[in-house]
Amino acid sequence: MADKLATAALFPPWTNTAIRVVLLCLGLGVAGTLTSFMVYVRSPFFTGQHEPVVQPFEFDHRHHVGDDGIDCRYCHSTVDKSPSAGYPSTEVCTNCHGQVWNQSPMLEPVRQSYFTDRALVWRRVHDLPDHVYFNHSIHVNKGVGCVTCHGRVDQMAEIMREVPLTMGWCLDCHRNPEPNLRPRDQITSMTWKAPGDDALAVGRAIARNNGVHTRVSCTTCHR
Ligand code: HEC
Ligand code: HEC
Ligand code: HEC
Ligand code: HEC
Ligand code: HEC
Repeated sequence: MADKLATAALFPPWTNTAIRVVLLCLGLGVAGTLTSFMVYVRSPFFTGQHEPVVQPFEFDHRHHVGDDGIDCRYCHSTVDKSPSAGYPSTEVCTNCHGQVWNQSPMLEPVRQSYFTDRALVWRRVHDLPDHVYFNHSIHVNKGVGCVTCHGRVDQMAEIMREVPLTMGWCLDCHRNPEPNLRPRDQITSMTWKAPGDDALAVGRAIARNNGVHTRVSCTTCHR
């Protein structure tokens, strides 16, 4: 009897309602937090899309690709042979800058790197999590151009990420790659457009020619 009274005093009847209200609020709160989190992680703010990355050394794609028309593969020479596109070695820069602008203070870090034999270290702009497998060469050789995934780098003072690099973005193309294909000799072109007015037919023909498949199984990208 004494026990019952004590319990009744500790938890008066209104506590049941209160606890339900608190639980409901918590539930809604958790759902709300989750929802805002999911929206947040998919927003350009979180994915770092469109944010210029300032590099420790001066390098401008607009001058090199835009004005001078140097092919991407001159500097990113492993892009069609290996998973990684790679960054140019100092020697690639000095091939030209031994002669061109060889007194410019902007190129001092390049000369220093060359004479001290210490590589230039660039900041990564695109960086997938470790649990995702990516391979440049298959994309390039099956007919997906640089501009499709990297945008107009010939117009970027500093490279920024044009695409979200989320799983959904990869899968959108993997389900239906045809509209994103181009001839192999146009892979590095920033301005190529499918000729005529049936772009899809052009894509289909390239898909047939290059043996392109849809690739949606999890182990394609998670191995
Ligand atoms: C194929 C030749 C070539 C290669 C390779 C090359 N450059 Fe250049 N670079 C040029 C030319 C030509 C200019 C003059 C730019 C202009 O006004 O069009 C230039 C200009 C520059 C400038 C000063 C102009 C500016 O505003 O960008 C810097 C800094 C520079 N290059 C850095 C580099 C670095 C770093 C590398 C290696 C990653 C490199 N370049 C590789 C040809 C080259
Ligand atoms: C003259 C050498 C040179 C040429 C030509 C060149 N690049 Fe680069 N690229 C660099 C250097 C150096 C960096 C690292 C510094 C930076 O991010 O700007 C770089 C960085 C990049 C990045 C960012 C990589 C990352 O960290 O995520 C992309 C994307 C890229 N280049 C694409 C291209 C494409 C596409 C072309 C051809 C249209 C091209 N580049 C032509 C030298 C070059
Ligand atoms: C299907 C999309 C796609 C295409 C096509 C593509 N890239 Fe990339 N690129 C990426 C992704 C994704 C990364 C980040 C890879 C990582 O983090 O492992 C990347 C990274 C890079 C890097 C940084 C160094 C590296 O290898 O990780 C450079 C440089 C680059 N790309 C240049 C190019 C050039 C040049 C071309 C065209 C010849 C090209 N890419 C075509 C998606 C693409
Ligand atoms: C614009 C189109 C496009 C985008 C975007 C794209 N891919 Fe692909 N991917 C392809 C095509 C086309 C193939 C070749 C399919 C085939 O025929 O097997 C391919 C193949 C692959 C392969 C197979 C490699 C192999 O060795 O078997 C991997 C892995 C891959 N993609 C990863 C990715 C990842 C990760 C992303 C996102 C970061 C991505 N791709 C974005 C078009 C794309
Ligand atoms: C075409 C490439 C591709 C395929 C196919 C793919 N994924 Fe992913 N996955 C990615 C990329 C890229 C990320 C990283 C996304 C990010 O960082 O936002 C990722 C991330 C994930 C994550 C981590 C959680 C997250 O949202 O970041 C899980 C779990 C996952 N994938 C499961 C799967 C499963 C299960 C399948 C098969 C039904 C699958 N993936 C197929 C590219 C792929």
